Amino acid sequence: MKKICYIVAMRAEARPFIEEYHLKEVKDFFAPYPFLLYQGIAGNIELSVVLNGEQHGSDLVGCEAASITTYAAIERLHPDLIVNSGTCGAFKADGAEIADIYIGNAVMFHDRRVPGDDAWGTQALGNYPVWSKAEELARLLDFKTGKVTTGSSLDMQPVDLEIIRSNGGQLKDMEAAAIAFTCSLTQTPILIVKSVTDLCDGGEKTFEEFSKNLAAASQALRDANKRIIPKLEIVFDEE
Ligand code: ADE
Repeated sequence: MKKICYIVAMRAEARPFIEEYHLKEVKDFFAPYPFLLYQGIAGNIELSVVLNGEQHGSDLVGCEAASITTYAAIERLHPDLIVNSGTCGAFKADGAEIADIYIGNAVMFHDRRVPGDDAWGTQALGNYPVWSKAEELARLLDFKTGKVTTGSSLDMQPVDLEIIRSNGGQLKDMEAAAIAFTCSLTQTPILIVKSVTDLCDGGEKTFEEFSKNLAAASQALRDANKRIIPKLEIVFDEE
């Protein structure tokens, strides 16, 4: 039986999916860390959903939490595949709409600016591998694909925009590259599934737009993952 581990930052993003699969919380699995584990069986897949947990009264988001949660999940659960399922900003200019689902076909950081030689610059941007079957899966399920870029802020400064667009970025988030970085250290394959909560070039205030669309985007994530999981069974069987 293959083991698939979802890494999700916010409870609101994961809740519809956890309920759909009737996953059960495994209490204190990661104690004393705040990470939360939900588990169940889906067909021939052992399904885990790991959340970052909370601090200061809010769900932990961002790269630091994403990195250590992924590290702990890989060490303790030994997944065959990590899936980062979460929300993102996207660009109207690329034809993105609220609650659209994208599969990440590339992933990098957009806010780590390190001058120096090529090696430092290359490390800063990251450009980690994504699962070799990601494009095939997107094609099979007719999902859009795009390059995910990750930074530590919800807002977008002009320098972020410049780096995102000059590197072909289409989907802006706060975790995917950190998760992909951790996966790259152990050659654990990563699939990135993103749902759009806000349009970076739409003229609305990001946090307000994100908050307004979070529930709909999270339901879209549930529906997308319901279509993805049975296909993962097939793709794994082909290997
Ligand atoms: N998550 C959802 N929308 C986002 C955005 N615009 N930037 C970073 N992370 C996000």
